[in-house]
Amino acid sequence: MKKIVLATLILSAFAFGASFATCAACHGAKAEKHALGKSKIIAGWSVKKVEHALKGYKAGTFGGALKGIMKGQASKLSDADMASLAKQISKFPKP
Ligand code: HEC
Repeated sequence: MKKIVLATLILSAFAFGASFATCAACHGAKAEKHALGKSKIIAGWSVKKVEHALKGYKAGTFGGALKGIMKGQASKLSDADMASLAKQISKFPKP
């Protein structure tokens, strides 16, 4: 069973490009948490809204008190990574 789960995770990481797993540490497995108790809950955000936020963090034009944390995250992402992450986040159910 564990092997199947692992294989699925690895496969989906390839299929999606960037994986939400690195984001899940703070945002929750299904983006259902306030990251570090501060962010908005992003589960179910539209693709456009997530991309706007991520591009803004990277460019330094978006964010609140803790935007420095997300700048570090977003700077590592290409436009394609952002698009793929935004798609994943938009599919999580709103809590
Ligand atoms: C180290 C913890 C941490 C990690 C890892 C992290 N985030 Fe965040 N994220 C935050 C915090 C804190 C905020 C709120 C920042 C602010 O003040 O604007 C935030 C905000 C956001 C927002 C905007 C929500 C809002 O409050 O306006 C989005 C979208 C987002 N993160 C997506 C991601 C994605 C996608 C990843 C993975 C590539 C990721 N985050 C990884 C901590 C994290």
